[in-house]
Amino acid sequence: MPDDTEKFLANQYPILLTAEQIQAKVKELARQLSADYAGKCPVFVGVLNGSFMFFADLLREITIDCEVDFVKISSYGEAVRTSGVVKIRKEVDCHIEDRHVLVVEDIIDSGLSVTYLEKRLRQQQPKSLKFVSLLVKEGSAQVEYRCDYVGFRIPNRFVVGYGLDYAQKLRNLPAIHVMD
Ligand code: IMP
Ligand code: MG
Repeated sequence: MPDDTEKFLANQYPILLTAEQIQAKVKELARQLSADYAGKCPVFVGVLNGSFMFFADLLREITIDCEVDFVKISSYGEAVRTSGVVKIRKEVDCHIEDRHVLVVEDIIDSGLSVTYLEKRLRQQQPKSLKFVSLLVKEGSAQVEYRCDYVGFRIPNRFVVGYGLDYAQKLRNLPAIHVMD
């Protein structure tokens, strides 16, 4: 009986974005961000857990001075739909007051997480606050949110891999697959 990772790797679930497509987009975003933030020494804030892989790949391609930090939030539990309640599990450690802050997300679905983070981080009075998300789902927003840099706009389907999980598994896959 193959386990879930083996099934996905054996392409039993359709690939939405290949590892190559993702890596090309990561490079493109990093080039753009390195240009836009030149001389500003931004703080890149990764949103755990989902963005860990995108964050690591993106940061490897950033060619300007920067710092990194993380927040951890949760809203899904073990479900494929957001619970609607965003909880903070870990705050940023560094002082972001008067700093240029760029939040790095894996995917925006309802928009509740980024909206919550924007409100929360703004209280610490950063000089600027922007968001980059590798994926943005079309037609699933429950609130109006901001996202300044978008990798791919994707259909409103449940996706896994490249950091994205289903019940905490499948984050290790190098491509992004459709699961539903
Ligand atoms: P939102 O608050 O509904 O915008 O959802 C944001 C978070 O939910 C993302 O950062 C992901 O961690 C998770 N999420 C949303 N859609 C998916 C999906 O299709 N697969 C896996 N995780 C998802
Ligand atoms: Mg996430």
